[in-house]
Amino acid sequence: MNLNSYLKEAKEKKQAIGHFNFATEDVAKAVVEASKEARATCVMLGTSEGEAEFLGMPEAVGIVGGVRKDFDFPVFLNADHFKSFEKCKAAIDAGYDSILIDSSKLSFQENAELTKRVVDYARSKNPNISIEGELGYLRGSSEVQKKIEISSQDYTKPEEAVNFVATTGVDRLAVVFGNIHGIVTDQVEKLDINHFAKIVSQLPEMFFVLHGASGLDDKDIGLAIETGIVNVHFNTELRVAYQEALKESLENSPQETTPYKYLASSVGEIKKLVIAKNKIFLGAL
Ligand code: G3H
Ligand code: ZN
Repeated sequence: MNLNSYLKEAKEKKQAIGHFNFATEDVAKAVVEASKEARATCVMLGTSEGEAEFLGMPEAVGIVGGVRKDFDFPVFLNADHFKSFEKCKAAIDAGYDSILIDSSKLSFQENAELTKRVVDYARSKNPNISIEGELGYLRGSSEVQKKIEISSQDYTKPEEAVNFVATTGVDRLAVVFGNIHGIVTDQVEKLDINHFAKIVSQLPEMFFVLHGASGLDDKDIGLAIETGIVNVHFNTELRVAYQEALKESLENSPQETTPYKYLASSVGEIKKLVIAKNKIFLGAL
């Protein structure tokens, strides 16, 4: 089964597939081990442009191939928020299973044109690939921030979404309805489910993606899945859990120089987080 067939299955069950970012092998392995333990149907591992730069695209493909085989579990590698045709092409050529071409900062016309170019190239190279486009202005970045201004002006417009999907032929659509990237400390993150429902009513067959799930209430995510989200992206919460456990580990054992020993608690925290998130995705919360 390819990623689109798993998304279709999730949509029918009103469930979601998790997407977790990684920049190191230990995180990738922990995500896959935990997803399998949580009885997810599959999992997506993603590298942002920065994460892919750090890791190397062939290395990311190699790691995902390794964990897929090792755990005998379906894992799909996504080029997450890749901004240019060249970067997307490099990921497709390297063997990524999925691309998010994020040209959402461009005008509607330019966004649609670039997305379509990536869709056409990807399909010519790999009929099983899944392509996501993004519409609307998703603010913030995957880190802890104080406050991010949220305006309904940034939301994905239902009529534009219909036009975008028809023009580009994307498999998945990243939408904006109150979500932001990262965690905010001086603000409560809240989704506008009514707005999202309007988008879904225009495109009932589409695979909708929720970005920026870190910091959101479990119930809000659950409601978004019930309404039509089939893919949920987490990054910041994993980064924070990994870093906090690492700090504690180094503080407690300053003499420890063996990476797999001082990283063990970070890996454990990633697993706990992924298991908890899968409960939301599978509707068990
Ligand atoms: O594409 C990545 C995600 O949207 C991550 O968002 O850092 O808020 O979890 P997050
Ligand atoms: Zn994102």
